[in-house]
Amino acid sequence: VTGYQYIITEKKGKVGLITLNRPKALNALSDGLIGEVNQALKLYQEDKEVGSIVITGSEKAFAAGADIKEMEKNSFSDAYMKDMLSQWHDMTKVRKPIIAAVNGYALGGGCELAMMCDMIVAGDKAIFGQPEIKLGTIPGCGGTQRLIRAIGKSKAMELILTGNNLNAVDAERFGLVSRVVPAEDLLSETLKLAEKIASHSQITVSLCKEAVNSAYELSLQEGIKFERRLFHSTFATLDQKEGMNAFVEKRNPTWNNK
Ligand code: CAA
Repeated sequence: VTGYQYIITEKKGKVGLITLNRPKALNALSDGLIGEVNQALKLYQEDKEVGSIVITGSEKAFAAGADIKEMEKNSFSDAYMKDMLSQWHDMTKVRKPIIAAVNGYALGGGCELAMMCDMIVAGDKAIFGQPEIKLGTIPGCGGTQRLIRAIGKSKAMELILTGNNLNAVDAERFGLVSRVVPAEDLLSETLKLAEKIASHSQITVSLCKEAVNSAYELSLQEGIKFERRLFHSTFATLDQKEGMNAFVEKRNPTWNNK
């Protein structure tokens, strides 16, 4: 799709790529940019050829946060009445896996956007942080909730209360990112990972994502029950029959996505 002002989209094999492209503002996440990301995600969700999605930025910045210049003049009633930042959460409804490929700054809303993805791959010069405290505000798009779940309360509290940055090595050590790769290999390595995910049955991949994400919302007992029911439901798919039959016949499966 052309006509986007703030992003570039292109399909790489079975992977839908979204590149944030507001270089002059270090990909600051304006309403317009987030609207375009949501639109691109919706189209990739509907596109049967796409099995997984990658969101990336530039070498200097994944995204330097919500757009401070756009936000600063809001009053409380402006912010409340338009439910500012609520549209960001649309991306959490996407059922295909989304990988954030982060080079450079992922600060504030940039870090939150990366954490809304299903996993984060970082270039070795990536920098994460929730610097909102330095602006007289607090994280507004899940930072206080998701960072704690990713790296634990004490480390999350330190980052959020100091506004200090986290480098890529520590981000991996603390479990915020799934892996760190040389900055120049970030996109190719992430696309490889995304292509591998996209090579599996789409229905099984989405069931997996749904099961893993339910761990955030449910008690252990409920989560295990939900997982088991989804597991049972795979036996109603053609792809479970194909996958197990291919194993028994010692051949590669051909997925139907049904
Ligand atoms: N919003 C709007 N514009 C931004 C921006 C942002 N978050 N981040 C950078 N820019 C703009 C700068 O204003 C500058 O524009 P001009 O050339 O017109 O002045 C341009 O991008 C380049 O930035 P710098 O000159 O500052 O670049 P630098 O290399 O010196 O510094 C940086 C890079 C450390 C990332 C610095 O830009 C910075 O601190 N940015 C703000 C980070 C931040 O506070 N993010 C949190 C935002 S609030 C938020 O996200 C709320 C939420 O929870 C959703």
